[in-house]
Amino acid sequence: MGSDLAIVLGTRPEIIKLSPVIHECEQRDISYTVIHTGQHYSDNLDSVFFEQLELPTPEYNLGVGSDSHGAQTGEMLAGIEEILLEENPDTVLVQGDTNSVLAGAIATSKLDMELGHVEAGLRSFDREMPEETNRVVTDHMADYLFAPTEQSKEYLLEEGIPADRITVTGNTVVDALHRNRKLAERKSSVLDDLGLEAGEFFLMTAHRAENVDDESRFRGLLSGVSTAAAQHGVDVVYPIHPRAEANLDAFDLSVPHNVRLVEAQEYLDFLQLESAARLILTDSGGVQEEACIVGVPCVTMRDNTERPETVSVGANRLCGVEPSAITASVDFMTETDNTWENPFGDGTAGQTIIREAATVRAKVPR
Ligand code: UD1
Ligand code: UDP
Repeated sequence: MGSDLAIVLGTRPEIIKLSPVIHECEQRDISYTVIHTGQHYSDNLDSVFFEQLELPTPEYNLGVGSDSHGAQTGEMLAGIEEILLEENPDTVLVQGDTNSVLAGAIATSKLDMELGHVEAGLRSFDREMPEETNRVVTDHMADYLFAPTEQSKEYLLEEGIPADRITVTGNTVVDALHRNRKLAERKSSVLDDLGLEAGEFFLMTAHRAENVDDESRFRGLLSGVSTAAAQHGVDVVYPIHPRAEANLDAFDLSVPHNVRLVEAQEYLDFLQLESAARLILTDSGGVQEEACIVGVPCVTMRDNTERPETVSVGANRLCGVEPSAITASVDFMTETDNTWENPFGDGTAGQTIIREAATVRAKVPR
């Protein structure tokens, strides 16, 4: 029997940010099916999030794994199409800007079903990033654009997307945080396990291709973070993403002694690390948002961001990867008073998205 709604996901941030949408389907008894592309497959990027976020195992897993952009996206596209033809949902939801999103969007757009894009309208205006292509193309194929903020809606309108397709929902990252932050405080022992004191360390993540696939950028970034931490008398905790780990080896980079490499963390432990950090250094999209929401200053080691709201409220500063720019930005952000407003909504994005998705409109009171 087919479902009303199909949800396509494939990577760590999609599992986290679609968890509120899946929980909403469960709560409202909406028939849905989850198609996992298998873009992420290592336990610590994949199954651990299904467990911690209390999500059912996906009905389908394409097991596509890692490959070049074209080969990976193409294999996903063929697999998703086959399942959509079998399930015949009215609406397909994708979230964010990964290759899994692009494949889900293209497959849906050629079939008689509607496409909803969760986290629509983000723009870095940097077409060198594969994610920028993925999000622009997906937005222009979508029937329902769930923009997290007024700013993202504005970008979509400027590109000529009709206003009646766009709903400002807030970001589902807030829903996930609200549901899990207290749980993390109660359940996570990560600070004790790693011998950390709240407020006495910096947290860092770096995994973006333009940083860690480029030897000199990766080297600069590590050196800048290490110097900044030493100047502030703290160590850095760096939960490492497999892309970055592979490149540390490939470039034979030595990690400075005050940068502590740890495994990619489970969600609850990572939330606890974020909340307890004095400052967060990152190139991740989701981590920029979470730092802003939990009230910890953030320094983003990129030349641009598709999350400008974090910068305009004063929670985040962009610095690229030059060591001197990193240390200057860390100095600046450690002086902030951490009293900004969260620009990403009140944690009801999942409800709004399900209410607005065409499939269920008839079944759910508006
Ligand atoms: C992808 C997304 C990126 C997102 C990130 C979230 C694209 C183009 N990029 O980047 O936008 O921020 O996910 O984390 O979709 N690997 C493993 N185990 C896994 C998955 C990957 O070891 O479960 C290793 C493989 O060596 C692989 C590399 O990581 O080649 C990169 O994986 P890939 O999915 O291509 O891109 P990400 O860097 O994870
Ligand atoms: N995250 C996690 N463990 C980690 C690093 C990140 O659980 O070790 C979570 C984090 O809370 C956030 C998401 O992963 O919700 C961000 O994913 P990522 O940085 O991989 O991708 P991006 O957001 O840049 O696409």
